Amino acid sequence: MEIIIVDNSDQVSTTAADVIAAHAELGHTLGLATGSTPEGTYRELIHRYRHGDLSFNRCTAFLLDEYVGLPKDHEQTYYCTIRRQLTSHIDIADERVHSPDGTAAHPGEAAEEYERLIARSGGIDVQILGIGTDGHIGFNEPTSSLASRTRIKTLHPDTVRDNARFFEGDESRVPHHVITQGIGTILDSRHLVMIATGESKAHAVRAMVEGPVSAMCPASALQLHQHVTVILDRAAVAELSNVDYYTYAFSHKPQWQGF
Ligand code: PGA
Repeated sequence: MEIIIVDNSDQVSTTAADVIAAHAELGHTLGLATGSTPEGTYRELIHRYRHGDLSFNRCTAFLLDEYVGLPKDHEQTYYCTIRRQLTSHIDIADERVHSPDGTAAHPGEAAEEYERLIARSGGIDVQILGIGTDGHIGFNEPTSSLASRTRIKTLHPDTVRDNARFFEGDESRVPHHVITQGIGTILDSRHLVMIATGESKAHAVRAMVEGPVSAMCPASALQLHQHVTVILDRAAVAELSNVDYYTYAFSHKPQWQGF
């Protein structure tokens, strides 16, 4: 796990955009996350596309997760959110932007079909991830199996509370079920890019980086992956013990190694 510590959330966004841009230039399959944290990265990628520095026209994209039961055109579906935040502003073909079908009559079958679709397309080259305050990745809440595949999950009440801000603060409007890539699915991506900002994430970041691998912190499963880039701002590293070492290691990284 490579830990990159930068001064602020803007630098997190530009650093994450550097990593994603390198994959996009190769026409790679991108795993996209929704939520507040990646928004700055997406703005930066759009900026680079508009200035002619970057194209996504050979890319395919897969979302991590989707609410169950919201109509597809509801502004808070992740289908709509990712189009609003990124994909409708860049040159990726809309039909190549995939997400789990939260409107399916049989969401369990839709989850399995999504898993097959990812496999048929050759897997995900780079997966962007945020972390929940409880350590979740995707919507894999604490105690999710570290071997889990795409499936239906019930949201933890803390996550419902966290996400109520997208539903005018009304928890009763937040769907309680989601389809999410499993932790095993996420670990199959060839490169994981985790971004976290702000002191509200500091506790979860510590459990992810320095805690034991445990289903109580789903993000700690990243310790099992051979290619993880973690990009953090100063506030998010407040509880880490080995900041000096991570900073030293990154500043001595050979240039040829890339991300
Ligand atoms: P956030 O969510 O980026 O909105 O903080 C992260 C997550 O829950 O994965």
